[in-house]
Amino acid sequence: MSKTYKICLLPGDGIGPEVIAESVKVLDAIAEKSTFNLEYTTANAGGAAIDAHNDPMPQSTIDACKASNAVLLGAVGGPKWDELTGAMRPESGLLKIRKELDAFANLRPVAVPLSLAESSPLRQSAVVGVDLLTVRELTGGIYFGQPVGNDGNEAFNTMRYSVDEIERVARVAFEWARKRRNKVMSVDKANVLEVSRLWRDTVKTLHEAEYSDVELDHMYIDNATMQMVINPRQFDVILTGNIFGDILSDTSATLGGSLGLLPSASIGSGIGLFEPVHGSAPDIAGQGKANPIAMILSCAMMLDDFDEPAAATAIRKGLEAALEQPLRTADLCNEDYTLATTSEMGDLIRDEIVKQL
Ligand code: IPM
Ligand code: MN
Repeated sequence: MSKTYKICLLPGDGIGPEVIAESVKVLDAIAEKSTFNLEYTTANAGGAAIDAHNDPMPQSTIDACKASNAVLLGAVGGPKWDELTGAMRPESGLLKIRKELDAFANLRPVAVPLSLAESSPLRQSAVVGVDLLTVRELTGGIYFGQPVGNDGNEAFNTMRYSVDEIERVARVAFEWARKRRNKVMSVDKANVLEVSRLWRDTVKTLHEAEYSDVELDHMYIDNATMQMVINPRQFDVILTGNIFGDILSDTSATLGGSLGLLPSASIGSGIGLFEPVHGSAPDIAGQGKANPIAMILSCAMMLDDFDEPAAATAIRKGLEAALEQPLRTADLCNEDYTLATTSEMGDLIRDEIVKQL
């Protein structure tokens, strides 16, 4: 009997459905040549769920996610729902499912091969060979800290972390470092924030107790943002809190020339949530302009999580081969390339992936 993995698809809004469609195309082709089966259910999330159920993350969607081995999410949000506030916003649906799945560690890898270094807004010599992984804490910090308030005259959020929350995400970063180049850069604002001082002390203590074989350094978020642009090759694993990781990972995404390249995996309790970092991009939705690469790379992270390394490697190698060819979606296209639609790019990538299996 071959294994069957259940995947819950949450296409969401904007370009979400388009990139999810390409991922399913790729995954089906992989499953056909592998020893496992994939089964899908689809549920509403974000703006699509507000339209259908008046709730950005209905209980039926949460139940469908929890009945699966993994969740693939396209993107949520868009101008149609921008006037909504608080728990009714599409984004709060995303925060809710992260919390429900206890997906406290968000992994955002960036690798820049030569074929992408040409598209970078930075000097090719500064970015070629970049290979870094941001481990962002995802279910705490200022995104979730209480109290929260807004009386129209004054508003506040609370940045709050406990030792337990810091330790569990730091562990993920140290473990990944051991599988990579053995370096962790913990990013905080310990020169100003009390919460960052606890963060730094906790990371140091854990390092001394259990991970002293890993090289550990600390950097302030403002400096880290600058270093990301000046010398991104210095980073291996970056460990940071929710809001700093949100900002720093977008910066890291541009190293390869497009936000359309950056995948993510949010893990914790066993059911992983895999989503591209790029968001719903409403300005290009429905026009075949979206880059499917970030979503497809998120599928590779899912297959890693399933412990199907051959399939995950096939995606990465196939993608590399596809990028050797002079075809690019709009975000990466210039006079050296032929313009591809989302699904043409998906076809090319799928064909190259299948050759690896
Ligand atoms: C991300 C996004 C989300 C975040 C939004 C859409 C809630 O920007 O995944 O980085 O801020 O976490
Ligand atoms: Mn973000």
